[in-house]
Amino acid sequence: MLRDKAGLVTGAASGIGRACALRLATEDAAVVVSDLESARDRCQQTAREIAQAGGPAEFVACDVADEQEQQDLVDHVVRTYGRLDFAHNNAGIGPHALLADTSAEDFDRTVRVNLRGTFLVMKHQFRQMLRDGGGSIVNTSSNACLRGAPQIGAYAATKHGVIGLTSTAAVEYGEQGIRVNAVCPGVIRTPLTTRLSEERQAEICAPQAIKRVGEPTDVAAAVAWLCSAGSSFVTGAAMPVDAGSVAGL
Ligand SMILES: NC(=O)c1ccc[n+]([C@@H]2O[C@H](COP(=O)([O-])OP(=O)(O)OC[C@H]3O[C@@H](n4cnc5c(N)ncnc54)[C@H](O)[C@@H]3O)[C@@H](O)[C@H]2O)c1
Repeated sequence: MLRDKAGLVTGAASGIGRACALRLATEDAAVVVSDLESARDRCQQTAREIAQAGGPAEFVACDVADEQEQQDLVDHVVRTYGRLDFAHNNAGIGPHALLADTSAEDFDRTVRVNLRGTFLVMKHQFRQMLRDGGGSIVNTSSNACLRGAPQIGAYAATKHGVIGLTSTAAVEYGEQGIRVNAVCPGVIRTPLTTRLSEERQAEICAPQAIKRVGEPTDVAAAVAWLCSAGSSFVTGAAMPVDAGSVAGL
C-alpha cells in the first residue's frame, strides 16, 4: 500500500506505535521511528525489527511537546528520504484518577504531551506537506473522545482536543492534498493498559460487541490504510477501532 512512501511514527518504542511502524514498513514504506530519549533502547528495537523485515528504518529521539525537536524530526525525514508522505502522531500518556483526585501537575503533563504535542507535530508536518503537495496524517486519539470516560478525565479531555485539531486541519488543508484523520482505539493490550487490573479490563470490555482486548496490530491495520491512497476520499474522520464499544452505548 505504501511503496516509495516515507514518513514517521511518534511514540514508536512500544505498544500501538511499534505495531504501526512495523505494519507501515511491511507495506513497503520507509519509516522514521521516534520516541523520547529515555525510550531509545526500546525504539531502536522497533527499528531493528523493521530492518529484519527488510525495510529501511531509523530512530530519532524527540519529545513531541518540544517544537524545535519536531521541526528537526520532519527535517530528518526529508533529508533522508526527500519528502514526508505520511505521519502517525501516536505518542501519548494517560494518568488514572477521578477528576477530583487529579493533580494540576498531572493534568498539565497530559495536556503537554497529548494535545500540545499533537498540535506541534502537525504544525511542522503541514509546513512540509504543503511544500510536497500533499500527504496523510493520522493522529491517535481514543474512544474516550466519543463518550465520557470515568477515571481518565484529563486524558479524555486531551483526546477530545485531538479530534478538534484533526477535523479543523482536515477542513483547512483538504484542497492542498493533505488528509488528516484520527483513530480512536478502545482498550488495546499495551504497556499503557497491562497495568490495569483484570477486573478493570473486563469492565472496559463489557460494552464491546467483540469481547476481547484489542491488539496493537488491530490499530496498525487501520492506520496503514488511512496513511495509504486506499483511503483517498477519507479525511476529518474519527475512526473507532474499539470492537463496537461506542456503537453499543
Ligand atoms: N492502549 C490503549 O488501550 C489505548 C487506547 C486508546 C488510545 N491509546 C493511545 O495510543 C497511543 C499509544 O499508546 P500505547 O497504548 O501504545 O502506550 P505505550 O505507553 O506503549 O506507548 C506510548 C509511547 O509514547 C511515548 N511518549 C510518551 N511521552 C512522549 C513524549 N513527550 N514525546 C515522545 N514520545 C512520548 C512513550 O515513551 C511510549 O513509547 C497513545 O496516544 C494512547 O493514548 C491507547
